[in-house]
Amino acid sequence: MAHFEKANSLNEWLDQRLAVNTLQRVLQTEYWIPKNINFLWAMGMVLAITFGILLVSGIFLLMYYQPNVDTAFDSVNYTIMREVGFGWLWRHVHAVAASVVFLIIYIHMFTGIYYGSYKKGREIIWISGMLLFVAFSAEAFSGYMLPWGQMSYWAGMVITNLFSAGSLELNGVVEWIRGDYVPAQAFLTRFFMLHVLLIPLAILALIGVHFGALRIPHVNNQDGEEFDFDVEAEKYKAGDKKSSKVIAFANDFLSKDMFVVAVYLVFFFYLVFWNYGFAMDPVNFDPADGLKTPAHIYPEWYFLWSYEILRPFSKDIGLIAFAFAQVIFVLLPFLDRSPNAVPARRRGLFFIWFWLMLIDMIALTAMGKLPPEGIYSTIGLVAAVAFILLWIALPIITMFEKKV
Ligand code: HEM
Repeated sequence: MAHFEKANSLNEWLDQRLAVNTLQRVLQTEYWIPKNINFLWAMGMVLAITFGILLVSGIFLLMYYQPNVDTAFDSVNYTIMREVGFGWLWRHVHAVAASVVFLIIYIHMFTGIYYGSYKKGREIIWISGMLLFVAFSAEAFSGYMLPWGQMSYWAGMVITNLFSAGSLELNGVVEWIRGDYVPAQAFLTRFFMLHVLLIPLAILALIGVHFGALRIPHVNNQDGEEFDFDVEAEKYKAGDKKSSKVIAFANDFLSKDMFVVAVYLVFFFYLVFWNYGFAMDPVNFDPADGLKTPAHIYPEWYFLWSYEILRPFSKDIGLIAFAFAQVIFVLLPFLDRSPNAVPARRRGLFFIWFWLMLIDMIALTAMGKLPPEGIYSTIGLVAAVAFILLWIALPIITMFEKKV
């Protein structure tokens, strides 16, 4: 057995057994963060906090929610909203967080794209980030099924129909996914399991990989400056904090992060108390009815851009375009052929590419909400084709980019 000295304090006792002091050094006081980063670098922490809010509010909702097609709707709209003390608050917190988390994810993603934070050793950070995006999308979709309202049912119907894979007519796949011919009890139970167990576990594991992948390449900075973290850390430790280009994660950087988190929480709770409606579709306040199709079926705002890429085309091509939109961002580190990991404003054509991509995705989102008629469907088609062309153009324009 290993030899243990008598400990003189609780800290020493824990340190002997769990190396808590080493852990604190590695994860906090000697985890080096560049000084020259702006508030956009706090979005990762804002995401982590929002995920925490979703977990806690979800646990409270789980105490009264019933995953049964006959009682699910009432357990949410009657029991939780009216009978349980502050049930309405937990529901609004959960719904608003589920929507806002996507806004922050998109900001976080586009910050990464603008500053080239997916390049030069940061590929795994990017790929794990995109897997988190996919996992959050699956989490949001499965959660949307649970109140068993009209939109839950019909969005479930439309999305699972995608798995009939166009004219391939993959017999039986849709039924296998639903566990029935139409969304019914088997469907609700399995989406409930995915939402409360399997996907949250996957998200936790992916967050672990995402954070771990940051460790060796370190966090990028807003000038694309390359410096030796060990040299800068030595300066910091020697007391020359002014000329060192890094600060410690805790408490230096954390206090900056927490300021942004505090401002975010003011905005978040403003939405929860005064503007929660945006996160809930009025059609979903009608119970699911398999015999009454709603006039317009559209997803939540954060799925609209990829939905709009699917819509203007015939079933087969639409499906291919949709699949393309879902996976293409994962390949960004490999499609961008330029050696420069610097802000987009110093990268010539890539700068234009960045803004065109952002505007195109906003246009797709706006068109996805409107009925596919007249001018809207034309704009939708142009924006969908532009999305595909922009990705085809990316390797070409970046291949010829000069080293800066
Ligand atoms: C939703 C869960 C996510 C959490 C909790 C999370 C958390 C974080 C944190 C804490 C950081 C370090 C500080 C910062 O740059 O903000 C970070 C960095 C990063 N994340 Fe995420 N992230 C998530 C999703 C994503 C997604 C969807 C992407 C896009 C694909 C992504 C891409 C990146 C990149 C490229 C960096 C490196 C930034 C740099 O080095 O400057 N993350 N993430």
